[in-house]
Amino acid sequence: MEDIYRPVKVVGIAGSLRKGSYNRALLDAAVELAPDNMEIEVLDIAPVPMYNADLDNDDDRPEAVRRLKQAVGEAEAILFVTPEYNWSIPGVLKNAIDWASRPVGRSPMTGKTAAIMGATQGMWGTIRAQDHLRDILASMRVAVVTHPQVLVHGAADKFDRHMNLIDEDARSFVRQLLENLRDEAMRRRISLEGLFSS
Ligand SMILES: Cc1cc2nc3c(=O)[nH]c(=O)nc-3n(C[C@H](O)[C@H](O)[C@H](O)COP(=O)(O)O)c2cc1C
Repeated sequence: MEDIYRPVKVVGIAGSLRKGSYNRALLDAAVELAPDNMEIEVLDIAPVPMYNADLDNDDDRPEAVRRLKQAVGEAEAILFVTPEYNWSIPGVLKNAIDWASRPVGRSPMTGKTAAIMGATQGMWGTIRAQDHLRDILASMRVAVVTHPQVLVHGAADKFDRHMNLIDEDARSFVRQLLENLRDEAMRRRISLEGLFSS
């Protein structure tokens, strides 16, 4: 039987593909700041093609989609680090979520615990994108840890020229959110595995 106190495996997904992305840098900061008993594996969604229901079957599913679904399926929790595009999440991230959401009722996302962070050069710290993402995840019954909110606004001043997160408040919020994500994933694990073993 698996150790019930084993580390929480997290898959980290950034919603920006560009080199020099603040959100990718924020995800890297999360990997650096991960608390005890948590492992974060970064998944690159750049190779994931546009969703096509004709290909969404066991014979035709693209390799990048298989990898995405496998990584999400093997993780216990998901960390989304997303920019805000036009008051919502970028299409690349929605597209990856759409692939991972299928088939209905057997999505690898269902039942996972998640947390959301975001960085923007603007003032509002991706708050609207994060709200939208929570709504989307609710459709898959993903339990989102909501506190503290990691809203990195004015991002150009929060990272150094090597894209290290240097803002102490932001680092502390990232640490706290990851601890809360780990604790929630552990609580859910213990209630589920404890239930089945008793
Ligand atoms: C198509 C597009 C739409 C955007 N819309 C918003 C927005 O609604 N709110 C916001 O704060 N920033 C917006 N931005 C600015 C992004 O937050 C900014 O470019 C950010 O650095 C992108 O994240 P990244 O550095 O991880 O690539 C938008 C940028 C693009 C390209």
